[in-house]
Amino acid sequence: MELSKEERPAKNDILGKIMLKVSSFPSMPQAVVKLMALLEQKDIAIDEITRIMRHDPGLTANVLKLSNSAYFGIPSKVGTLKHAVMFLGLKRFTQIVVAACVSDNMDRTIEGYDLPPGELWRHSIAVSSTAEALVKLKKNITTMDVFTPALLHDMGKLVLGTFVKKEFHNIKKIAAQGVPFEVAENMVLGTDHAEIGAQILAHWSFPSDVIDAVRWHHNPERIKNSKMQTEIVYLSNLLCQACGNGDSAESKSIIPSTVVLNRLGIKLDEYEIILNKVSIWMNKLADSLAFD
Ligand SMILES: [Fe+2]
Repeated sequence: MELSKEERPAKNDILGKIMLKVSSFPSMPQAVVKLMALLEQKDIAIDEITRIMRHDPGLTANVLKLSNSAYFGIPSKVGTLKHAVMFLGLKRFTQIVVAACVSDNMDRTIEGYDLPPGELWRHSIAVSSTAEALVKLKKNITTMDVFTPALLHDMGKLVLGTFVKKEFHNIKKIAAQGVPFEVAENMVLGTDHAEIGAQILAHWSFPSDVIDAVRWHHNPERIKNSKMQTEIVYLSNLLCQACGNGDSAESKSIIPSTVVLNRLGIKLDEYEIILNKVSIWMNKLADSLAFD
């Protein structure tokens, strides 16, 4: 589908502006960078973790708020970071710290994608939750951090939204021909939200597995030597969309890629069963997905 000359935006011009916005995107707080480095070590003292967080009271408050939210489900409320780490363990605690860093931005209106306040946050948590449930369900999938890439998969929308809004007419025109929204984004803007999300995470020095999972969350069959995080994020996003939790502007196709199902060892009839289960999880999750 070709746009007329008048309709065709100056792609390089737009791309330059997008890249400028990516490079000026706020850095990840130092506390998170240090915590992620600590994850690589053994025998970490809890005091070391609380000492790192002490310098960022805003982040600390957000972490405690999230730790006590229904979704993360600590049985009794925690009032200190020390208790939160003790209850959650360092891995889960670090995931919550990352979530606390992005929650404010994800909880607002995301223009260009018609996402009202809270929608991207709820979708991101739903995809994370589904991804973790899939890992538990499939015995052949080794334990890995699927929570973080699933949570951050649509991060790029935070940057790309304003550009999508400006070119919405052109993108919509292409998408109306049956082209997936993210492909239409790329045709008009020269990039898409998956690519931009990956660039933000690279800028934040995230591990390459997490970056890859975000970069290819719409087309994991294009990545070779995948470590399954990408497939899990792709499938979880698709399952949530199929259950009505997702961006209506995104891909209309909820038929899973057979390449991905094969890689995960899921047969089509099993996929249908999983879809039913996710639909039930979605209803249960609905109450706990709210930020407060
Ligand atoms: Fe997406």
